This record gives sequence, C-alpha cells and structure tokens, in this order.
Amino acid sequence: MTPAASPQQLQDSLGRPLRDLRISIIDRCNFRCTYCMPKTVFGRDYPFLSRADLLSFEEITRIARIFAGLGVNKIRLTGGEPLLRRHVDTLVGQLAAIPGVELTLTSNGSLLPGMAHDLAAAGLKRVTISLDAFDDAVFRRMNDVGFPVADVLKGIAAAADAGLAPIKINMVVKRGTNDDQILPLAEHFRGSGMILRFIEYMDVGSSNGWRMDEVLPSRDVVARIATRFPLEAVDANYPGEVAERWRYVDGAGEIGVISSVTQAFCRDCSRIRLSTEGKLYTCLFANQGHDLRALLRQGAGDAEISAFITGLWAGRGDRYSEIRHAATPAAKKIEMSYIGG
Ligand code: GTP
Ligand code: 5AD
Ligand code: SF4
Ligand code: SF4
Repeated sequence: MTPAASPQQLQDSLGRPLRDLRISIIDRCNFRCTYCMPKTVFGRDYPFLSRADLLSFEEITRIARIFAGLGVNKIRLTGGEPLLRRHVDTLVGQLAAIPGVELTLTSNGSLLPGMAHDLAAAGLKRVTISLDAFDDAVFRRMNDVGFPVADVLKGIAAAADAGLAPIKINMVVKRGTNDDQILPLAEHFRGSGMILRFIEYMDVGSSNGWRMDEVLPSRDVVARIATRFPLEAVDANYPGEVAERWRYVDGAGEIGVISSVTQAFCRDCSRIRLSTEGKLYTCLFANQGHDLRALLRQGAGDAEISAFITGLWAGRGDRYSEIRHAATPAAKKIEMSYIGG
C-alpha cells in the first residue's frame, strides 16, 4: 500500500486541500424554519433516522481522528439541532481531545441556557447561533413553532457567560420575509463583540421551494447597513473563509456576509460533510453520499478508512454554486438538516 498522504499533500482534482469536517449528529430539530425543514414536508411524522442508524460517539470520534490525520483542522457539529443529541457533551469531550483541531458547533440556541456551561467544560471553544429576526412575531413565523426571540437571546447570553467566544450569529435573509430585520439585528449586535453574519438564502435541499427572487444579494445587505452605520472591508482570516468580513468604521465590531448564491466560493472549498448516518458528502449540493458507516461496521482498519477518504477527496471536482445555473434543477438534492449545515 502507498503511504497515507501527508496533510499538505491531500488535494482534490481542483487543487483544494481538505481542512474542514462538518458532522451532522442528528437529523431532528425542534424548529421548523421555512427555508430548512418546512412543516408542510417535515411534519411530526417525517421518517427521521432511528437510533441504530446514527453513528455512535465512538464511530464519530474515530472518523474525526482519521480526518485530523489527513489535515482537517476544524470540526463543526451540526444537525438538525445538535444539542438534541443525548449526551452531546460527552461527544464534545471526545472530539476536543483530538490535537490540532478547532471544535465548534452550530445551534439554534434554544437549549443553550441549560447546556452552555457543560459544553464549555467539555472542551467546546465557540458556537455559532442562528437567529433570523429581532422582532418576535417575525422570528416565530420563521421558526414556525412559535419559539420566542427572548429565549434565543438567553441562549446567546449563556454561551457568552460560558466563554464560548467569539460567538457568531447567523441570519438567513429571505427577501420579503425577514429582510426588514437586517438593521434591527445589526443595531442589536453592534458593539457586543459578537459577529453577525448575513447568509443568502440557498437552494439547498428539495423541500423549501427556493426561488431566486427571494434571495437578497449580500451587496444589498452591506449597502443597507452602510447607509446607517458606515462599513469598511476587512481581509479574510484564512484562505477559503466563507464569510466576507466588514467592520463598522466607528469601531463597533464586525459583520460578515455569506454569498453562496451571488458570489460562489467553491474555488477554495475545503469542506467535507459527514451525515448523521455516516455518509460522506463532498459538496453541500451533492446528491450522493459515500457510505463510511458500512466500511466501519464491516471492521475496516484505520488505514483502509484513510485510503477510502483520500481516494474520495482526490477524485472530488464539486463546485455546485459556481455552476448552479447550468445544473439540472430537477436533480433531487439532500436536505441540509441531514447532511449538516
Ligand atoms: P467559521 O468561519 O468557522 O465561523 O464558519 P463558517 O464561516 O464556515 O460558517 P458556518 O459554518 O456558520 O456556515 C454558515 C453558512 O454558510 C452555512 O449555514 C451555509 O448557509 C453556508 N455555507 C457554509 N459552508 C458552505 C459550503 O460549503 N457551501 C455553501 N454553498 N454554503 C456554505
Ligand atoms: N439557505 C442558507 N442557509 C441555510 N441554512 C439552512 N438552510 C439554509 C438555506 N436554505 C443554514 C443557516 C442556519 C443553519 C442551521 O443552516 O445558516 O443558520
Ligand atoms: Fe432547525 Fe437550524 Fe434547520 Fe432551523 S435552520 S430547522 S433551527 S436545523
Ligand atoms: Fe463547496 Fe459545494 Fe458549497 Fe461549492 S457548493 S462551496 S463545492 S460545498
């Protein structure tokens, strides 16, 4: 067998390194955000995965270690809502022990008041919290389960109190639905030390009925904020950073915009996704996964798993967002709640 590629050598067919592993640890969520898990599709009876289908904590940790050996330096836990997975702090503890990897998590914030301190104690470094509106009525409509803004703000406060910094707040912007919330959220988080990011509504999955006219381009978001609070551009923190950074000229901190529709960032995409049931996806918009769980449960050794991943990455040529308009819209896409945001 050829020796495993060193972290610097692992590149896909477009020369992109593998750096970022996103792990969906549960496909369920207590929200029904209309752009992600609309109630009309994901009602109460949606066939979510059963417990035996989920990767165990031991399986997830083993895979994560192998990825770290292949050059991954960031792991993000996602879902669904990752904090709904029982004993998630135990998993955090196991993953936090992997050297050279920054561990983070994306959450809707609803369960953070009771969990933030345990997560921090287990080794979690920071969190990203979704919040799509500052107005309570608009937010309740967007999460579609009547969840109040005040309770997410309590989750954010708990995360801050636990030292899970820097906290990032993600707002998905849908024109005509919550774009009037851009300024209220900007105003609220200015000067807080937290980084508010505005995300273009994407055509991910097949259930949200995405339409281009509901996308508000990031340049419009920046323009709207800048008329009230002047902004200046900031350089990226690292190559391939998804968010474009801007800072308030008056020193009140920074914001970010994520423009996967109007300004695709596939060229530097170093992300791979592990679904709840152990399939690997080399693109958010892939319609086929690669079954790592089967390999694991057949008793494959680390070297074999490592070679599988290396081969998969070497053959990767995904760049969906760059070719979105040419891609067949009819192809069934995987839901983000399953593949991991
Ligand atoms: P940090 O830099 O570590 O804070 O994370 P990040 O910038 O990767 O951002 P985060 O994980 O919070 O992702 C924010 C949003 O960006 C996601 O929820 C998606 O909407 C979008 N996004 C993230 N990664 C991708 C990607 O690979 N492709 C596309 N098309 N969108 C992505
Ligand atoms: N478009 C953009 N972002 C989305 N997310 C989920 N669905 C979409 C979509 N259709 C992302 C958001 C949210 C996270 C959990 O997943 O960033 O905050
Ligand atoms: Fe749940 Fe996040 Fe999807 Fe909303 S966007 S339904 S909070 S996973
Ligand atoms: Fe990466 Fe695919 Fe997103 Fe492009 S569309 S940035 S290749 S995950």
